[in-house]
Amino acid sequence: MATDTPLVEMRDIRVAFGGVHAVAGVSVDLFPGEVVALVGGNGAGKTTLIRTLSGAHKADSGQILINGEPVTISTPRDAKDLGIETIYQTLALADNTNAPANVFLGRELTTRWGNLDTSAMESETRKLMARLNPKFKNFVSPVSNLSGGQRQSIAIARAVHFNARILIMDEPTAALGPAETEQVRDLILQLQSEGIGIFLISHDIHDVFDLADRISVMLQGELVGTVNKKDVTKDEVLGMIIMGKHPGDVTQQDIAELH
Ligand SMILES: Nc1ncnc2c1ncn2[C@@H]1O[C@H](COP(=O)(O)OP(=O)(O)O)[C@@H](O)[C@H]1O
Ligand SMILES: [Mg+2]
Repeated sequence: MATDTPLVEMRDIRVAFGGVHAVAGVSVDLFPGEVVALVGGNGAGKTTLIRTLSGAHKADSGQILINGEPVTISTPRDAKDLGIETIYQTLALADNTNAPANVFLGRELTTRWGNLDTSAMESETRKLMARLNPKFKNFVSPVSNLSGGQRQSIAIARAVHFNARILIMDEPTAALGPAETEQVRDLILQLQSEGIGIFLISHDIHDVFDLADRISVMLQGELVGTVNKKDVTKDEVLGMIIMGKHPGDVTQQDIAELH
């Protein structure tokens, strides 16, 4: 379902901290309805790269295009205005309140008398969840009582309700069990079918391999390469992550050493 114009194009992005080239000229892109996994070991520069897209940190140089148009993203507000939402690993939920309160956190609906419109927020949240995660049924309990997958659903529902077209997810399934991971997986498939593009960030290829359409690998601030998931094996991607080798250059001996 990809179209010709990428939702996101990041071109030759550079970020240095003192003498450390955290991101040393990286280009990645993302099409509508696509999941691009951004993988690499700790310190590879994934978070720093993606923070330039979410408006958390300004790049030293490089260009970002959204729907083909060059943009300046200086703050998280700029990013949100461009339809870019970030689901942080912490999820940033208010634990002692319920799902509807979290979906509308900071953007509460009010009645014409200025009171919180809890019934409108609940009915909106029920509609959203019916679409995104029909298994989600608990609209009453504080979200601290909910499972990791349900909590993730709430964070995503919040992003999508406020018109995210581009979703950045940091290690979305790392802390989840298999059933939970399955729930998040279904949610991601639903978002894809709605044309939302997703950057999935992970240090572990096993966490994201199944979900990815393409995989961009970073090592020591540089892009090793971007591959189509269907063209590669996990071992080949591991070879990219650990050795910085391109899939065709990974030998049987390399693979033996990876295990
Ligand atoms: N705020 C910062 N100040 C100084 N160095 C940083 C900062 N953030 C990241 N770095 C360095 O930049 C490099 C890339 O880090 P990071 O983007 O967090 O990698 P990853 O997310 O792939 O683990 C690392 O060497 C890290 O120590
Ligand atoms: Mg990181």
